[in-house]
Amino acid sequence: MNTIPGSWDAKPPQGADRTSPLVVAIDGPSGVGKSTVAKLIASRLGYTYLDSGALYRAVAWKALATGTDPTEPDAMRRLCRETSLNVSSGAGGGMVVEVDGRGLAAELRTPEVSRVASQVAALPDVRAWLLPVQQSFGRRPGVRGVVAEGRDMGTRVFPEAPVKFFLEAEPQERARRRHEELAAADRAADPAETRREMEARDGRDRTREAAPLTAAPDAVLIDTSRLTVEEVAERMVRAIERTAAGRR
Ligand code: DC
Repeated sequence: MNTIPGSWDAKPPQGADRTSPLVVAIDGPSGVGKSTVAKLIASRLGYTYLDSGALYRAVAWKALATGTDPTEPDAMRRLCRETSLNVSSGAGGGMVVEVDGRGLAAELRTPEVSRVASQVAALPDVRAWLLPVQQSFGRRPGVRGVVAEGRDMGTRVFPEAPVKFFLEAEPQERARRRHEELAAADRAADPAETRREMEARDGRDRTREAAPLTAAPDAVLIDTSRLTVEEVAERMVRAIERTAAGRR
């Protein structure tokens, strides 16, 4: 299993060329179906799946576990320095995250971690610490392609990605999907409260100074409100295959 420890000073990635893995960048707010579709196309194409949100969630989990103020830049910088973060691909194509040797999965999906993740994601030093972790994830031996999902994949982490998508959906539909997702994990909350929480997090993600959520100028915009997962995946796979064919 390949693991990539968190680091402040890993080398930046080399520019994309025909031999480097094809990076597919998928960005958008929560509830647009990014994770579902990213996992689906990664498995269909035999690419590696990078869930960048899980890394911010891992930092948030540690802040909560250690009682560190997630809005305090100095304390969070120290926390990063003292944290060993390992990321690897799991057997089912998912991503495995370990913090200080402890594997985290369901722990990263609680509403509390969601809220704190959007706070730590606003801190430039946390973003800087996670940047090489994400960039090196796709550069492991044998990786043909990476489907990277998050908020700044196409703008900051992989600005040279040859295929970029930005997914959107109507707020009502996003809240409905988020509620269903929580219900499926036995964490259903009041739908109005779920929508309020989601809008507060998205507002923070869009308006923060450090890498705010925004579409890259060369991203293909897809409104998923009235599309099935399969329809979104098909559109994306067609675009990716055209790009992959052009690189051969
Ligand atoms: O996608 P998610 O809900 O798991 O992301 C958790 C939080 O991390 C969310 O508030 C957005 C933030 N995030 C980010 O700022 N940049 C990313 N590349 C991925 C997630």
